[in-house]
Amino acid sequence: MKKIVVLLFLSVKLLSVSGQNALFIPDTLIGPNYNLNMHEDSVQFFPGAISHTYAFNSNHYLGPTLIFNKGTAININVTNSLNDTTTVHWHGVHVSAIWDGGPYSEIMPGMSWHPQFTVLDNAATYWYHPHTDMKTAEQAIKGAAGLIIVRDNIESALVLPRKYGIDDFPIIVQSQQYDSLNQAMPRGMQDSTILVNATINPYLAAPAQMVRMRLLNASGERSFNFGFTGNMQFYQIASDGGLLDTPYLTTRVRLAPGERAEIIINLTGMTGQVIHLMSYASELPMGVQGGPTMPMPPGNPPMDSPINGIDFNILQINVGTQTANPVTTIPSVLTANNPYPEVSANNTRTIRFTADSAMVMDGPFYFNDSSFNMMRIDYKIPIKSVEVWKLVNETMVAHPFHIHDVQFFILDRNGMVPDPGEMGRKDVVLVPSGDSLRFITKFTDFTDSITPYMFHCHILMHEDDGMMGNFVVLDSSAFVGINEIKGENDFSFYPNPAAVVLNVRINKGNSFSEINILNLLGEKVFQSKINTEQSSFDISGLAKGIYFIQLKTNNKTVTKKFIKQ
Ligand code: C2O
Ligand code: CU
Ligand code: CU
Repeated sequence: MKKIVVLLFLSVKLLSVSGQNALFIPDTLIGPNYNLNMHEDSVQFFPGAISHTYAFNSNHYLGPTLIFNKGTAININVTNSLNDTTTVHWHGVHVSAIWDGGPYSEIMPGMSWHPQFTVLDNAATYWYHPHTDMKTAEQAIKGAAGLIIVRDNIESALVLPRKYGIDDFPIIVQSQQYDSLNQAMPRGMQDSTILVNATINPYLAAPAQMVRMRLLNASGERSFNFGFTGNMQFYQIASDGGLLDTPYLTTRVRLAPGERAEIIINLTGMTGQVIHLMSYASELPMGVQGGPTMPMPPGNPPMDSPINGIDFNILQINVGTQTANPVTTIPSVLTANNPYPEVSANNTRTIRFTADSAMVMDGPFYFNDSSFNMMRIDYKIPIKSVEVWKLVNETMVAHPFHIHDVQFFILDRNGMVPDPGEMGRKDVVLVPSGDSLRFITKFTDFTDSITPYMFHCHILMHEDDGMMGNFVVLDSSAFVGINEIKGENDFSFYPNPAAVVLNVRINKGNSFSEINILNLLGEKVFQSKINTEQSSFDISGLAKGIYFIQLKTNNKTVTKKFIKQ
């Protein structure tokens, strides 16, 4: 009975929005000074009741597209005109922790916040959205989000479509659930209203040439498997944080919440034709939200949205005539990404995605069994540290993992090299149920011992429920916290303090590899291969002071502090 009611309700909604609407293109703001005013607004998405929204500036939903130029010092003035506390986070942008806009940077109602930073990012598509403690879903789902386009010299030198709104289009896709009073539901998992740039049932008039689309999945939970009708091929040219080395000719790009991709479709010679940007969700694996619905264990709320596991339209494209000076071919080489070599890593961290039981599908979910705590610092990372993060999803559902401050390169998914579309700079990656994935990154430029950066699941409901952690990046001179890995008994050593000989005992279950001794700056002052349980090292040559002794095996690094007398 319950199911019938739901279906009737949905069919009413679908009928009411059957008219086509021209795709809304947000206005742009050009720097170096930007003003953003987050305010309460409303939109008539459906007949009957208006939907209450949040928006920036003159928009009624979403905000202007911010154009940043790499190397430029910018000032942003964010005013909070809501009746609620908020924050604004520059997703994917490499800024100091105090200007990152995480949950530690609250803007009280009526107040403003003035981040200022130099744009250090590569040309790509980023975005901004609130990151308020436990309210990110509610505020973002109401419409408080916008796109950021970074331009740089490398990208500008390439012949690519970049006329905003003419041959280069923002495509902000959100899947939403509205209640019977037409209000967005932050925890709605029966979402079936697709908004593209705040437009229901959109069409886009596009010119008959190379057309660039900046796809952003700004949904609360749904992943999309984008493609075009007839399996038309297109080029993916950028991932989250920059250009790919070469255009990747493909028919699909899968984007989980928070992920971006820039794609180019060749509409040359197609004047008068109509194609559709689709989500081929029938091809998503089970456990990816939006894919075929799993049978629900008793006690879990329904996740059976009518668009789960089916292929559906996102955007109709009506191909018109060519513009003057159209781009009709694209370069075969875009840039040269230089992933950090794995041998350069100083540390490995393992982050398991966990839940209270193996049957949990709607949360809460955790990292390493613990829920986010604003008062706790999870990791202290030395500046310039190159790290491998290993993500292991032990839950039933897929989670898009996002980290602030840095872009990363995926090393492997389940031991295999990633798809070419994922070989560039990334700041969000989807980790399906049962998978493990390793990425490598480097914590450059910004230290702050007080304000942390965040890492979290970008399914907003999971994030708000505590699937989040934080880290501070510390100057090596101030750094005393290398010994991160707690509660693990990988090895022991004695005496401490030590003057001449250090005896090291490796516990059973650890594959042997090497022992390093690092000074306070993190520099390696001693190194030895180790292949027995018990070894002794002569440390008489070391200067007196604090050192770190580090066990490196092929899957982890454990570091502890000792004093040389
Ligand atoms: Cu898009 Cu921490 O967020
Ligand atoms: Cu972010
Ligand atoms: Cu999650």
